Amino acid sequence: MTTAALPAVAALLLGASFTSPPKASVACVECHATSTPGIVSDWRLSRHAAVSVACADCHGTEHKGAADAAKARLPGPDTCARCHATQVKQYQGSKHALAWAAMMAMPTFHYQPAVLTDGLKGCGGCHAIGLREPADQRAISRESGRDYGAGSCDSCHTRHTFSVKEAREPQACKSCHMGFDHAQWEMYDASKHGVRHELVKLGALPSTASAPTCQTCHMQKGDHGVMTGWGFLGVRLPLPDDPQWKADQTTILKALGVLDPSGKPTTFLEVVKGAKVARLTNEEWQAQRDRMIVACKECHAEGFVRSQLKRGDQTLREADRLMAEAIEIVAGLYRDGLLKKGKEQRFDYPNVLQFHDSGSPVELRLFAMFMEHRMKAFQGAFHNSPDHALWQGWSEMKRDLVEIRAAAAGLRRVRDGERRAKP
Ligand code: HEC
Ligand code: HEC
Ligand code: HEC
Ligand code: HEC
Ligand code: HEC
Ligand code: HEC
Ligand code: HEC
Ligand code: HEC
Repeated sequence: MTTAALPAVAALLLGASFTSPPKASVACVECHATSTPGIVSDWRLSRHAAVSVACADCHGTEHKGAADAAKARLPGPDTCARCHATQVKQYQGSKHALAWAAMMAMPTFHYQPAVLTDGLKGCGGCHAIGLREPADQRAISRESGRDYGAGSCDSCHTRHTFSVKEAREPQACKSCHMGFDHAQWEMYDASKHGVRHELVKLGALPSTASAPTCQTCHMQKGDHGVMTGWGFLGVRLPLPDDPQWKADQTTILKALGVLDPSGKPTTFLEVVKGAKVARLTNEEWQAQRDRMIVACKECHAEGFVRSQLKRGDQTLREADRLMAEAIEIVAGLYRDGLLKKGKEQRFDYPNVLQFHDSGSPVELRLFAMFMEHRMKAFQGAFHNSPDHALWQGWSEMKRDLVEIRAAAAGLRRVRDGERRAKP
């Protein structure tokens, strides 16, 4: 056997059948086997290599060597669509496709350093899963002359293995769905679902023992159109029937800038609609809920499933009660002139979508209560992690509320003291 045949043998042993690259890619593979060997060996492991889809099919043929690397095309979903129209169409209708647009729609988005957005080191690192506007509109790409990270389709089955097995594991979602405001990975990992999956992988349970992954519930039958009923912000239209919950969600919509302080819709509502931030009809919401129930019914009785999901809704309702109370306290500070609206605020009313760029400590607390603790409470309930729902969610919200109340009282005391001090 010649040494040249070794990669082919290795590929066969690893389960991929190796064919030599198609003509257009022979030079690419040969040269890159030296310049970027990891890319070539990953590609050799891929299904693409086995079916003769190679470098030139995705990157074109204009670049021929080190000197003209910028001529290599960097593929996005449109490139994959040539051969995978079904998945691309599903993705285009998903929340993922809107990720870049939703990020840019935030009122204080432009306060973030470009390296963290365009440069993909912060917000942009995760939101690049969305469809992006051309590089020539983006500061960092203009500067470096290269538009990396437009791939989107390499978010779950990463380049250049593009492995469907990788994409089916919950870890494929982990780098983004974790942390501060969307700790779904940690919740799943702590839930019986995640534990069962882990034990199956460790061999403590048979490989066929049932254990749902993120994909079992969110990408049924490989559907790339991910979307949920409540979504990230946990609001929807029409508002809930329950009068107290309706009032509380109205308060929350004011603090999201979707309604003005008097309750009238603002122009931001159009942004919310465009980025599909909330389901806008009962039918739309119910369709997502029904889709979820189908997933659960694979392993649970329908009555069990419905009651569990209802408890998720009820947890959100309880969390909204605390949230609305806190928003009202901070709104009172605006009404009394103790807080003044910042440059990015249209109304004298708290806005939790200003993130960490809110103007005062009491509003930063309100932001954490909304973005970190309310999220943990209801997302933890839906993902069956009692620790997130209670200790990291509900319990923290109670503490936030006490501190916000104390801070508001403090601001009033200072004002009253100043008034008394005046001659
Ligand atoms: C003679 C060697 C050689 C050949 C042939 C070659 N490349 Fe490259 N290619 C390189 C080198 C070296 C770089 C890295 C340049 C750098 O350091 O930025 C590169 C970079 C790239 C990049 C990254 C571009 C970027 O902006 O970072 C892609 C994609 C690429 N090559 C694909 C291909 C494809 C597809 C072919 C065949 C059509 C090919 N290469 C042929 C040497 C080669
Ligand atoms: C199925 C499509 C596909 C094939 C086939 C493919 N690539 Fe890529 N490649 C991508 C995608 C997607 C990216 C990421 C683009 C981005 O970041 O915007 C990428 C990025 C790259 C980069 C730059 C990023 C980095 O990690 O350095 C290089 C170099 C590269 N490919 C080389 C190759 C070579 C060499 C081959 C053939 C052995 C190849 N590609 C085959 C889709 C492909
Ligand atoms: C020129 C056609 C072509 C292009 C372009 C292409 N693919 Fe493929 N892809 C295929 C074929 C053919 C298969 C094998 C299908 C099969 O196994 O029946 C495949 C298989 C796959 C698989 C399944 C791999 C597995 O482990 O079974 C994934 C995932 C995939 N492609 C993703 C992508 C992505 C993402 C892009 C764009 C960056 C892309 N492909 C671009 C033709 C293409
Ligand atoms: C670690 C990855 C990550 C980072 C960093 C990140 N996000 Fe996100 N973002 C996500 C994920 C994942 C979701 C979806 C969460 C969910 O639905 O529970 C999301 C949701 C959102 C949404 C809600 C979209 C909607 O339509 O419901 C907005 C807006 C948003 N992020 C903006 C930002 C901004 C602005 C930044 C930077 C200040 C940022 N994100 C940083 C991963 C990230
Ligand atoms: C959120 C993660 C994620 C993203 C983003 C994603 N995929 Fe997938 N992809 C998956 C999962 C999970 C599977 C396996 C589905 C299954 O169980 O069969 C898969 C499977 C595939 C397959 C193999 C289908 C088959 O039946 O063998 C192709 C082809 C594919 N994806 C293409 C794409 C393309 C093109 C894009 C970009 C539009 C994309 N994917 C984006 C997660 C993702
Ligand atoms: C057993 C099923 C199941 C599993 C496993 C699961 N989820 Fe969920 N997920 C749900 C349900 C139920 C909801 C709430 C749906 C609704 O709004 O009606 C949800 C909601 C979400 C949301 C929207 C915001 C939120 O948290 O309410 C995201 C994002 C999400 N899940 C991501 C993930 C990720 C990532 C994983 C894996 C780490 C995962 N999920 C595992 C069932 C599941
Ligand atoms: C590269 C980062 C990234 C990866 C990987 C990723 N996601 Fe997401 N996901 C996001 C972002 C960002 C959003 C918010 C999209 C928006 O703003 O429109 C999101 C939104 C979602 C939503 C929609 C929630 C809603 O608002 O209804 C679901 C469900 C979801 N992701 C599930 C998954 C699953 C399951 C996986 C793994 C198979 C996964 N995601 C992989 C970044 C990612
Ligand atoms: C692939 C199978 C599978 C799917 C799909 C699935 N589960 Fe489970 N679920 C299990 C297993 C296995 C357990 C652990 C067994 C146990 O706790 O008795 C479990 C446990 C639970 C528990 C904890 C039960 C308890 O008695 O402590 C809840 C709650 C739950 N699942 C709800 C759901 C909901 C809601 C869905 C859909 C959103 C869902 N499951 C989807 C298999 C599944």
